[in-house]
Amino acid sequence: MNEAGVIICQDFQSDFTQAVMQCEPDQLYILTDETTNELCLPLLKSIGILADARHIVIGAGDIHKNLDTLSSVWQALSDGGASRHSLLICLGGGMVTDLGGFAASTFKRGIPYINIPTTLLAMVDAAVGGKTAINFNGLKNEIGVFQPAVKVLLDTEFLRTLDAHNFFSGYAEMLKHGLISDYTTLNELLAFDTTVIDYALLKQLVARSVSVKEDIVVQDPHEKGIRKALNLGHTVGHAFESLALSQNRPVLHGYAVAWGLVCELYLSYVSCQFPKDVMRKVIHFIHDNYGCFAFTCDDYETLYGYMKHDKKNTSGIINFTLLNDVGELRLNQTATQSLIYETLDFYRESMGL
Ligand code: GLY
Repeated sequence: MNEAGVIICQDFQSDFTQAVMQCEPDQLYILTDETTNELCLPLLKSIGILADARHIVIGAGDIHKNLDTLSSVWQALSDGGASRHSLLICLGGGMVTDLGGFAASTFKRGIPYINIPTTLLAMVDAAVGGKTAINFNGLKNEIGVFQPAVKVLLDTEFLRTLDAHNFFSGYAEMLKHGLISDYTTLNELLAFDTTVIDYALLKQLVARSVSVKEDIVVQDPHEKGIRKALNLGHTVGHAFESLALSQNRPVLHGYAVAWGLVCELYLSYVSCQFPKDVMRKVIHFIHDNYGCFAFTCDDYETLYGYMKHDKKNTSGIINFTLLNDVGELRLNQTATQSLIYETLDFYRESMGL
């Protein structure tokens, strides 16, 4: 285990039991959604310490990441007589860990929680680093707090049942971690055979990827500075995600991030001399594995509007995290409207639109 409480499990049952015992809870609650309740909870059924755990099941999907669901979790904790010494275990993807983490952090002013992420995206990103939230007023992650889980247990065995789209969605955040860390990590990720997954190698890549995030979060838990490195690809990525949603063709978060990386690497190349050959290599990988998000120049104004309203901005100035080179960060960068439009032209050309 390391400073941020992440455990890469060798023996899940014993790592989990130890993690729970260290919390000395008076009651245990386990939160799942309808999917993880069916697919993942059965894998934990032989763990003795869970015998008396109370189960809370919520609807699956981002549509349920709302105040009503949050309230149902608070209600279950309250009805069950949970105290400040009770422990909530969040078993699921980012929706469960975000909402569960927020429920725990606010119930009786905060009870401890353990995350057991079951998707690649949650393992390498959502479940690590203490960001908790629900959606509100039509806005993603509008209400939440920074409050880390006491432990995050990573068991890549859960990934064996993950579908290809969710695999690639998580892998995009790993690519981002490669780009903000070093060439060795990035090149390993680009060389990974995504057609026949080697789970032992994937486990090593996940461990490395998580450690990139943890090193950053430990330095800057509240995103005042260096944690902004984790926003690489996200300014344009969030705009793609919002456009896709508004056009009734939603895309997975990691896909939007991958396409956002294409644009933000181009901005890095133009504004910060990021090496062109590396940009081309990453774009090639993204093109081959993620396909292309299609839009026309008629959508530029809307995309630009989404970027102007990104919650990472200050005083309406679009904020990008860019790179001089792999691992060489340029935080708090901006770009003119004409450069952003040029970037969208570049995206469409290089992705074959
Ligand atoms: N998902 C980026 C962060 O945790 O800061």
